[in-house]
Amino acid sequence: MCRVCGGAVHEFFDFGRQPLSDAFLDPAGVGHEYFFRLAVGICESCTMTQLIDEVARDRMFHEAYPYHSSGSVRMRRHFEETAQLLLDSHLTGDDPFIVEVGCNDGVMLKTIDKAGVRHLGVEPSGGVAELARGQGVRVRVDFFEESVASAIVAEDGPADVIYAANTMCHIPYIGSIFRGVDALLAPDGVLVFEDPYLGDILRRNTFDQIYDEHFFFFTVRSVRNAAARFGFELVDVERLPVHGGELRYTIARAGRRAPSPAVEELAAEELERGLAAPADFAGFAAGVNRIRDDLMGLLRGLRAEGKRVVGYGATAKSATVTNFCGITPELVSFVCDATPAKNGKLMPGSHIPVRSPEALADPYPDYAVLFAWNHAEEIMAKERAFHEAGGRWILYVPEVHVV
Ligand code: TYD
Repeated sequence: MCRVCGGAVHEFFDFGRQPLSDAFLDPAGVGHEYFFRLAVGICESCTMTQLIDEVARDRMFHEAYPYHSSGSVRMRRHFEETAQLLLDSHLTGDDPFIVEVGCNDGVMLKTIDKAGVRHLGVEPSGGVAELARGQGVRVRVDFFEESVASAIVAEDGPADVIYAANTMCHIPYIGSIFRGVDALLAPDGVLVFEDPYLGDILRRNTFDQIYDEHFFFFTVRSVRNAAARFGFELVDVERLPVHGGELRYTIARAGRRAPSPAVEELAAEELERGLAAPADFAGFAAGVNRIRDDLMGLLRGLRAEGKRVVGYGATAKSATVTNFCGITPELVSFVCDATPAKNGKLMPGSHIPVRSPEALADPYPDYAVLFAWNHAEEIMAKERAFHEAGGRWILYVPEVHVV
């Protein structure tokens, strides 16, 4: 049943039994992993694409949640620019106030704090929340929902902006979120959020965006429908080049702001392309299975030739790729990742060891699978010496290729 409107959800792909994508294991903890059925479908009535099965939120987001939003130079710059944009547009009144849902390590709010603007991050994962506090960011360790929003408004007053990056799509209980936004948002305030765009996922075959934490896969049309159900209106939409293609949505109370032409333009484009009905996903399975077959064929061939292959970027996305394709430590001996909390652990499900980026040069392997393909430019520049030494990158979106 659709988590937005209660309509029937048409399942269009089943990845089977999958682990939690950020549940990196201690080598001693093998044998105690949680698995669930990762399947995805589209609501036949409101068009929202969503997971079929839901994982309890505190299994995913807790003290030890390892992902750091500031782990890339490009994303740090992106969030600095975002903060500046919000400061210049919606936070110009008298004593403005911004709440960020899922502020992670404070990568965006630290710029807001430096500007002296009142703010609050709401972050359920205690470890990353502590990092945000270390940056001077004010944080409440909680899951944002209706009751928390009411408590915040009682303490701090209404918010001019409620912002979320790569967080709204993580939250299945969208009704409580919108009721919370209704309680907390100032009459002319805006809810601004950005998440991976289903249009880009389908266009580029980036099926690895589908994992436990990504519950919803938004489009202009599905977000516009969802907002309208709760008394809000989608008033602006902007394409973002990060994480393989995202959209930034701006939502206001219904009737308070004139929608920008971009909303209707992109909604019309979606209708033309087909992002709204079960039939539009007919080709999806073939694309995913082709990538799996090509990638496994390449990796098995390289092993037969005695080549050394490692991975780069122990992303949440890579949990879907490794486990769905069946990539084992025999095919990819370890994965380099700079995140301290992932280092020395094993990847969920596949149990491929995670090592620091320095391990890449010790000695350089023949190939590295770029699981963090969304950071390709940054990582390839950083690891130029690997390529100069004859090493080759394996990419698997939009098709398997070697560079
Ligand atoms: P990311 O693709 O941002 O997100 P997700 O986990 O949601 O799929 O993850 C990027 C990972 O790659 C993260 O664990 C940090 C790592 N990384 C490096 O190790 N070095 C780098 O230079 C960059 C940019 C990322």
